Amino acid sequence: MKTVSQINVLREQLAQARRDGLRIALVPTMGNLHAGHLSLVREARRHADMVVASIFVNPLQFGPGEDLDSYPRTLEADQNALAAEGCDLLFAPSTAELYPAGRDGLCNVQVPGVSEGLCGGNRPGHFDGVATVVSILFNLVRPEVACFGEKDFQQLAVIRKLNRDLHFGIEIIGVPIVRAKDGLALSSRNGYLSEQERAIAPRLKQCLDALKARLEQGVARDVALREALVAISESGFKPDYLELRRAADLGAVEDDTREAVILVAAHLGRTRLLDNLKVALP
Ligand code: PAJ
Repeated sequence: MKTVSQINVLREQLAQARRDGLRIALVPTMGNLHAGHLSLVREARRHADMVVASIFVNPLQFGPGEDLDSYPRTLEADQNALAAEGCDLLFAPSTAELYPAGRDGLCNVQVPGVSEGLCGGNRPGHFDGVATVVSILFNLVRPEVACFGEKDFQQLAVIRKLNRDLHFGIEIIGVPIVRAKDGLALSSRNGYLSEQERAIAPRLKQCLDALKARLEQGVARDVALREALVAISESGFKPDYLELRRAADLGAVEDDTREAVILVAAHLGRTRLLDNLKVALP
């Protein structure tokens, strides 16, 4: 696997791949790779001849006081993991390479609707930062396919709309959440958890499982959600939100909605955990 940090070298590599007629898949990441990221690489392999991963801790998507500076950077281990998974090319640019004119006055890609509320409500500007960097990566790599995790369910919805509205023409593939044995969704931010917090963390998924069961039994939505919010708080989390939305587009659940998704963000100490679970409403 080759690692490139410069845009012109990336372009040369991709031009050669295109001359060779290869179908290209892109897996964008911020690094500190775990089995969740690697499942995206594996899925990408199934859809393309050449897998390009990117590692870039994108300052545009971090708010003031968030963890931009402490976000784990583990390039060497990531390179080894990607190579072992059969990734062909890693693009790992510096901030100056991607945003040479700085961030002031930079074009900003906004995705209305799906980026509002949920994480967009708690992290203003976050999805603008995501949509902007993903647009840049899509333009640089021009992949046929791109893989994103369902772990970040709202992000996936934002990217599907971005791809549709701006006619990128890329096949967007959503990949199921990879979890630890105890149910905790894998995340680079789990490394922030103390040993004690790590023992508590799986309770979040247990609360989602219990809520899913109640909803599927036909318990009134507002009652079930309120109970679950209490259970989450009593387990030691400080929830940002717990919501039930339409799975297809994150719209409001209507009486005839069958495929829904529970979405949760909750703080455990200094760590913000994110999870979701699909529900078949009766
Ligand atoms: P990052 O948090 O590094 O995640 C990169 C990709 O891995 C995302 O598509 C995310 O949904 C997926 N992922 C993370 N944990 C996962 C898990 N447990 N199971 C399945 N997939 C998982 O998401 C970002 O980076 C950034 O916002 C990015 C899209 C790269 C733009 O900067």
